[in-house]
Amino acid sequence: MADLSLEFCGVKFKNPFILPSGIITEIPEHKRAIEAGVGGVTLKSLTFEKREGNPLPRLWKYEHGLLNSVGLRNAGIEKGSREIAEFINEHKGKSVILVSLFSTRLKEFVVLVEKIVPLKPEFIELNLSCPNTEDELGRSLGMEKGGAGKVVKVVKKVSGKIPVLAKLSPNVTDIADIAKECEAEGADGISAINTVGPGMVIDIEKRKPIIGAKKGGVSGPGIRPIAVRCVYDIFEAVKIPILGMGGIEKWQDVVEMILAGASLIGVGTATYTKGMKVYQELEKDLLEYMEKNGIKNISEIVGAAH
Ligand code: DHB
Repeated sequence: MADLSLEFCGVKFKNPFILPSGIITEIPEHKRAIEAGVGGVTLKSLTFEKREGNPLPRLWKYEHGLLNSVGLRNAGIEKGSREIAEFINEHKGKSVILVSLFSTRLKEFVVLVEKIVPLKPEFIELNLSCPNTEDELGRSLGMEKGGAGKVVKVVKKVSGKIPVLAKLSPNVTDIADIAKECEAEGADGISAINTVGPGMVIDIEKRKPIIGAKKGGVSGPGIRPIAVRCVYDIFEAVKIPILGMGGIEKWQDVVEMILAGASLIGVGTATYTKGMKVYQELEKDLLEYMEKNGIKNISEIVGAAH
């Protein structure tokens, strides 16, 4: 019998499907993915200060996916960490919980991690790659060579036993190089990819960009070949496991991402087009594919395209 359960960084998952960060913005709302049977949920990135978010509209559907510029809307470290604590207490054991953190300052990253460690999430994911914060916050640290590694290094000193994932941007010259630097500084795994771009859509009647912040990160099926290539490159460069995501909608996309080198599979934008039921559909279809091909566990085919 084929079986979807797996271990990633020593943590058990009932299936490989993960809700990526930012698809849902309000902390209590993430329970919808848990109720849908997802293997893990990544909460919206927490920042040091409270952030109201960017002007509306923050989200726009185009024919091959979504553009979004939420502007890291979240309650900030004090209220946000209380909400996260409550969420973890209520849902621990039903699904793996990954807490996402964002900052452009090393010291703030350390304080955020120190605040989150006592709440005992199964993972900490470092968002090193938001495409929407250049103005007030400065560029994401993971976009510069050396930056991502520096964050991982300081975070690993305070993260204790909680595995740390570095979430990387495709909008760099060499994502594999950045993954290697994260691995060298002690990252336990890599999440890839964050959104592409930023991109822009223009209302041709109004002759103005549609998104409130004008530009937004691009997700959805249009970016899938970029995500597959990034995961493939990272798999060649590092030994730590990969949470692969970017435009995955169907079981064929899941298999492709696993063959490229991913052990866990993020599915986010597809929840907009298909609803949360996409997770159950993917589980059923992936199991069927495994049965047909005599695969007992997906670990047998991780990276098989290399
Ligand atoms: C936002 C953050 C991200 O990491 C991303 O990829 C896209 C949007 C945001 O909150 O604006």
